[in-house]
Amino acid sequence: MSKTSISNLASRLSLLIILSFFFTTVRAANAPDPALVSQGEVLFKENCKSCHAVHTQEVGPALKDVTKRRDVKWLSAWIRNSTAVIASGDKYANDIYNKFGKSPMTSFPSFKDEEIKAVLAYIDAEGEKGPEKVIVDGPPGGPSSPEPPKEDPTSTIILILVVVVLILVLTTLIVFLSVIKRFLKDKEATLTEADKELVNQKFDLVVVVKSKMFITIVSLLFVTIAVRACWLGALSIGVEQNYEPVQPIPFSHKQHAGDMKINCNYCHTGAYKSKQANIPSVNICMNCHTHVTEGSRFGKEAIAKVVKAYNDGAPIKWIRVHNLPDLAYFNHSQHTTVAGIECQKCHGPIEEMEIVRQHSPLTMGWCINCHRETAVNSKDNAYYDRLLKVHADSKKKGEMKAEDIGAIDCSKCHY
Ligand code: HEC
Ligand code: HEC
Ligand code: HEC
Ligand code: HEC
Ligand code: HEC
Ligand code: HEC
Repeated sequence: MSKTSISNLASRLSLLIILSFFFTTVRAANAPDPALVSQGEVLFKENCKSCHAVHTQEVGPALKDVTKRRDVKWLSAWIRNSTAVIASGDKYANDIYNKFGKSPMTSFPSFKDEEIKAVLAYIDAEGEKGPEKVIVDGPPGGPSSPEPPKEDPTSTIILILVVVVLILVLTTLIVFLSVIKRFLKDKEATLTEADKELVNQKFDLVVVVKSKMFITIVSLLFVTIAVRACWLGALSIGVEQNYEPVQPIPFSHKQHAGDMKINCNYCHTGAYKSKQANIPSVNICMNCHTHVTEGSRFGKEAIAKVVKAYNDGAPIKWIRVHNLPDLAYFNHSQHTTVAGIECQKCHGPIEEMEIVRQHSPLTMGWCINCHRETAVNSKDNAYYDRLLKVHADSKKKGEMKAEDIGAIDCSKCHY
């Protein structure tokens, strides 16, 4: 090895070492300091959690990646006094303020640089972790699955395999046929007239395509595919999951149903006894808001709107969150009282929501899935005694599911 190539190698090696050193330091500098993150977590939970979450929108926006959207200088100014940033004419600030219905964020003027850094480090660390899984308690008897059934990928693979095999068989047959024909042609002299005609017959695509057999097969195939596509479509037709409209009055379930623990039934009077759960009229609000005229979040402003609606006799125009199409029949009391299912199983943790959000997909697949998995609540219900006996005598093993009392018949949900 010559001298130059050795020095060449050495310089390359040293370059490599410098580079790797550089990258490791950069990464070390980027890695969050765990002490800072946990300090940030405490601060976040004390000051921000009432309005913000990292992955979901609450009263304020989801804070994931906020350090990528804005720099630390802007964020510090915003957290200390967002009203001042808005007043300065900052476009981003004004856009987001308007987007959130001009609800001002609390100011934290006493926050030190170090504290802001800690909160942001915590937000970054949480953001990287990914959203927490929402665990919905399953009913006794079946695992819970709020999502519509997914298509099994193995069935697609099997389908492709079958098609490939069929094509292979077909080509082999065609090759085989032509070999035989050629073989017979050599011996043409020994054949009868009828056989000769057969051997010399040309393969005519047009005749095949026009044949009844072919047309029937193709139309059958087409109909099958179309029906299957419609069915899968109907199972998952998009009712908007996670729909979360901003309401005309910032009524908070977290405040009323969570912190104050007012029973759902106090306001949604039909939820246990009729088809509709009902949205409360403003009279119910006034049971308290004749006295309570000031809130901790919006002062007198928000409750004044409630009182005004009452005095004007104009119902509050709440925006409907859940919406099944008319063609489907759903009854609350059947599920809450008869089946004993909790509101949260379908509506999610409403008592933690500042703004109500549609938790479940509300698709046909979702309804049917639950009817297959959930056992009927037959305790203390004489009506089911006979059905239970029939079920026990039948070949079906295990508990009596909603499915077994006919809850997946089309006519039960479509009339
Ligand atoms: C009273 C509710 C409330 C509290 C408490 C609150 N925020 Fe906010 N925050 C909001 C709202 C609402 C917005 C949207 C802008 C607006 O309407 O002013 C917002 C916006 C933000 C934004 C801009 C987000 C973006 O996507 O650009 C940041 C950053 C932020 N808040 C951080 C914090 C931090 C950090 C804390 C705790 C120290 C906190 N907020 C406490 C309500 C709140
Ligand atoms: C103090 C009265 C009150 C209490 C208590 C209350 N709600 Fe509500 N609820 C309302 C009002 C008002 C609305 C309409 C405004 C909204 O969507 O936020 C509503 C809306 C809803 C909606 C959405 C309706 C739609 O538009 O599709 C659901 C679901 C709901 N509540 C469930 C619950 C559950 C579950 C509880 C108990 C944990 C509960 N509520 C407790 C007053 C109340
Ligand atoms: C059982 C009593 C009770 C009922 C019923 C009730 N509220 Fe309240 N509400 C309160 C109390 C207490 C507060 C103040 C909570 C706080 O800020 O600490 C409040 C606060 C509020 C606020 C102000 C939030 C804030 O922080 O500024 C609004 C808006 C509100 N309620 C709307 C409604 C509406 C709309 C209804 C009817 C659907 C209703 N409330 C029914 C007791 C009630
Ligand atoms: C089995 C699932 C399920 C359970 C359990 C359930 N809901 Fe519902 N809820 C729905 C569906 C589906 C809708 C939409 C109905 C529609 O659009 O016709 C709805 C709609 C609502 C609405 C909107 C108004 C209405 O009546 O359509 C309110 C309010 C509501 N639910 C409250 C409750 C409360 C409170 C409970 C518990 C006591 C509860 N729900 C339990 C599935 C459920
Ligand atoms: C959390 C599980 C669950 C979900 C989700 C659910 N159901 Fe049910 N449903 C039940 C159970 C359990 C019963 C049996 C109640 C009983 O004992 O009569 C039932 C019964 C019914 C019945 C009466 C059936 C009969 O044989 O009388 C209808 C209709 C119905 N559900 C419609 C719906 C519709 C429509 C949806 C979707 C929008 C839905 N359900 C979502 C659990 C569920
Ligand atoms: C447990 C209740 C339930 C049963 C049983 C049920 N459906 Fe549905 N179906 C629904 C609901 C809820 C919707 C509306 C969902 C949506 O819009 O996403 C729906 C929607 C549909 C649609 C789509 C209509 C449209 O909006 O385009 C078709 C088609 C349909 N169902 C056919 C059937 C047939 C056929 C059966 C019987 C094999 C059946 N359903 C059984 C609850 C049910």
